[in-house]
Amino acid sequence: MDTLLQGGTIVTPQGSFAGDIRVRGERITEIGEGLIAQGEKVIPVEGKLLFPGFIDTHTHFDLDAGSFHTADDFATGTRAAIAGGTTVILDFTTQEKGETLMEALGNWHRLADGKCSCDYGFHMSITDWNEAVRKELPLMTREGVTSYKLYMAYDNLKVSDGEIFEILQAVEHEGGIIGVHCENGELITELSGQLLARGETGPEAHPKARPAEIEAEAVYRLLTIARMAGTPVNIVHLSTRRAYEVVRAARAEGQRVYVESCPQYFLLEDSKYELAGFESAKYVLSPPLRKQEDVDCLWKALAAGEIDTIGTDHCSFHFHGQKERGLKDFTKIPNGLPGVEHRPVLMYTYGVGTGKITKEQFCGVLSENPAKLFDMYPRKGALMVGSDADIVVWDPEAKDVISAGTQVQNVDYTPYEGMKIKGKPVQVFLRGTLVYREGQVVVPGQGRYVHRGRSGL
Ligand code: URP
Ligand code: ZN
Ligand code: ZN
Repeated sequence: MDTLLQGGTIVTPQGSFAGDIRVRGERITEIGEGLIAQGEKVIPVEGKLLFPGFIDTHTHFDLDAGSFHTADDFATGTRAAIAGGTTVILDFTTQEKGETLMEALGNWHRLADGKCSCDYGFHMSITDWNEAVRKELPLMTREGVTSYKLYMAYDNLKVSDGEIFEILQAVEHEGGIIGVHCENGELITELSGQLLARGETGPEAHPKARPAEIEAEAVYRLLTIARMAGTPVNIVHLSTRRAYEVVRAARAEGQRVYVESCPQYFLLEDSKYELAGFESAKYVLSPPLRKQEDVDCLWKALAAGEIDTIGTDHCSFHFHGQKERGLKDFTKIPNGLPGVEHRPVLMYTYGVGTGKITKEQFCGVLSENPAKLFDMYPRKGALMVGSDADIVVWDPEAKDVISAGTQVQNVDYTPYEGMKIKGKPVQVFLRGTLVYREGQVVVPGQGRYVHRGRSGL
């Protein structure tokens, strides 16, 4: 239905202004002040902020973790996304050893297609690099996949330094961008073995196996490789001051480095690993939660505009029955936290609400920057004439408390239990359709695949 949003404050990274938005079909057709209704449904939005739909650059839905899958699949995960104001998610397809990229992509399409409540695209994780895979890169572009992930950790996923060098060059040649999971996998294996041998089997051992040096060394190595390859690179889920300082030094020398971080590294810290019993398994993810000095450093970097995107790394496992698989051995606790639903309210409340960042910066890291970095701008990530009408009507005064009991995510806990929030979405439009209203996903299942590319509108 055609709609006129009347009397809101339109937020963009470049500035905010009073205005109305006219939507025809799936697109924004007019933006201005005092627009007159032309037969559309008028929605008054006085006192509300209007954001371009948020983009979560980092989810793992329906991820196969061996004998079980993540708690959220594409149906439940994208429903939770929409409930939080996220209108596009980018999930990670993963190439199994021996598989082609096309096979991997086909597998993820089968998991997602027809089930999503927000729009979705895929990054491709390359785990088995060879000449045949190199030849598939143009096929990935044709299929709308222009971003990749490489792992420097996890035995079944990681690629060697030489492979990183080659893949960086090959993907750059194809016009794509690579995100890298930066942790020194061999040292993690070694440290984990030593901890287990000493009888340190509980979840509190997890961060000891992955100290800050593990990330900083990997970031330094990656940036050295990228400099030699002559390519830009994106560091995903950056978590520490040490790693950030490596990035800063590289940038000071003119290197093009993008940084993603996640709400958990801004809002939680490593005291969670002191919780009694097995409770801290809820916070086992990689990289792990860090120290207050790391948290402080990330906020400063975000305020300085030195963090490009905030993704969630949503990878949800139930505490009961799934995290519990590691009761006797912390290395068997499935890694990951839920967060796709709460990223906007958390970053708004604890970032904008506390004055650490402006609402315009919030809009940049949650909407515009991800759209630009991942080839969706200005179709996504913008409130502009011609853009998809993905619009979040945000009530900056609305208060709530995060709780597993009321969340949409299909997981039996939230790491943010009991946290108060101020500011939340009250209506969410996906390509012109009002899909979420006042606490309810009213039109689920509308999500479409986003074929990404450099074509723009
Ligand atoms: O613990 C995490 N982050 N699990 C998801 C996989 C990854 O490394 O991004
Ligand atoms: Zn990762
Ligand atoms: Zn991840």
